[in-house]
Amino acid sequence: MAIRLGDTAPDFKAQTTDGEVNFHEWLGDSWGVLFSHPKDYTPVCTTELGMAAKMKPEFDKRNVKIMGLSVDPLDSHGGWAKDIEETQGTALNFPLIADSDRAVSDLYDMIHPNANDTFTVRSVYVIGPDKKVKLMITYPASTGRNFDEILRVIDSLQLTAQHSVATPVNWKDGDDCIIVPSVSNEEAKEKFPKGWNEVKPYLRITPQPNK
Ligand code: BEZ
Repeated sequence: MAIRLGDTAPDFKAQTTDGEVNFHEWLGDSWGVLFSHPKDYTPVCTTELGMAAKMKPEFDKRNVKIMGLSVDPLDSHGGWAKDIEETQGTALNFPLIADSDRAVSDLYDMIHPNANDTFTVRSVYVIGPDKKVKLMITYPASTGRNFDEILRVIDSLQLTAQHSVATPVNWKDGDDCIIVPSVSNEEAKEKFPKGWNEVKPYLRITPQPNK
């Protein structure tokens, strides 16, 4: 069955480059990002894994654990990891699932047969500390992901989890936010001491609360 936002992220046990992992146990109280790669030793995936490794400190800062997946076996991942370090300048520093039986790919609906019946598409799942799915993005095999965008959405998700705000178009960390419509002006006075600009009664702009 398709996974939808708000669903509990399916749990699984899998072989990874960091040993056997029980997904929910591995997540613990952290946020998580699970992302799939069509195949080992492919050019776009090589650049993506190098960039994800380079950006791992940014995920760590946000209490987010990252895990990749490819349908090739563990020995293939081992050889590819050497290439990633050599060509991208950063060693793999997070687990990569060896999903040769496609158990996890099927569980997360990462194989889209009308695109390719063998390889996974580039799926991204962001999972909250409550193990619920907060974001899903699907890219085609030929388009490398934008990890800055994934971090941007995580910043928004973490902000809105703590404050009664939403984030407007093209928002990035530090920009003004929107007071959610369910908060009355009376409540807003308490919650947003910096005040707000009421463009319309339903469009109230306030400085980012945690800055
Ligand atoms: C790649 O990762 O480079 C790739 C994988 C499958 C199709 C096209 C590109």
